[in-house]
Amino acid sequence: MQEQEIIQQTIAFVKQTLAGAEAGHDWFHIERVYKTALTINASEKADNLIVSLAALLHDIADSKFNNGDETIGPRIAGEFMQSLNLAPEIIEHVQQIILNMSYKASLGTVTFHSHELEVVQDADRLDAIGAIGIARAFTYGGFKNRVLYDPAIPFVENMSKEAYKNTTAPTINHFYEKLLLLKDLMKTAAGKAMAQQRHDFMLNYLDQFYKEWDGKS
Ligand code: ADP
Ligand code: NI
Repeated sequence: MQEQEIIQQTIAFVKQTLAGAEAGHDWFHIERVYKTALTINASEKADNLIVSLAALLHDIADSKFNNGDETIGPRIAGEFMQSLNLAPEIIEHVQQIILNMSYKASLGTVTFHSHELEVVQDADRLDAIGAIGIARAFTYGGFKNRVLYDPAIPFVENMSKEAYKNTTAPTINHFYEKLLLLKDLMKTAAGKAMAQQRHDFMLNYLDQFYKEWDGKS
């Protein structure tokens, strides 16, 4: 099967599987991560098929909604790739990337590294910052019934991912606890450059936010 045909079939599978997914990880999130990964890879020159498959399949099953089972995403992705008769080394590589991008991996229990992983992980992190990142944060905050901002509630940096989910902190706090820290986690040169732009956009946004909060500007 030609590479483009493989990618088209994967897009169809992911769209169908994610129909009805929550807004943070719906098909449009996947599409943005896929496009961003291709933008990054135009200069990184990692393997295009691996990058495409991993970007498209990285959120196919969220462990949050599967009793914390980190293996379900790689398993579903693996079964799909097997149905396309892809080479075992391709299937395994894509599964490793998906496993590594998950929550447990961020705690350091998985130690796989590859150039393709860096490209896709940068693309996924880029979707949490900039204009889209701001929109996603306030969508999440609204869903959780959070206030936009409360000057009396302090920011906590480097909070664990589980802790974020359990706080009732205002959405603005999330910028300081996570979003403004992502720029320094980028691995690829193109990812770093894009992250810097989106980071600066968020800083400008926060500046304007506080001015308006104080009835100025
Ligand atoms: P990821 O796909 O990176 O694992 P999450 O499931 O943690 O992301 O979050 C999905 C989206 O919701 C991201 O854009 C993230 O910034 C946002 N989000 C997560 N936690 C919070 C929070 N406490 N406040 C505001 N936004 C949040
Ligand atoms: Ni994602």
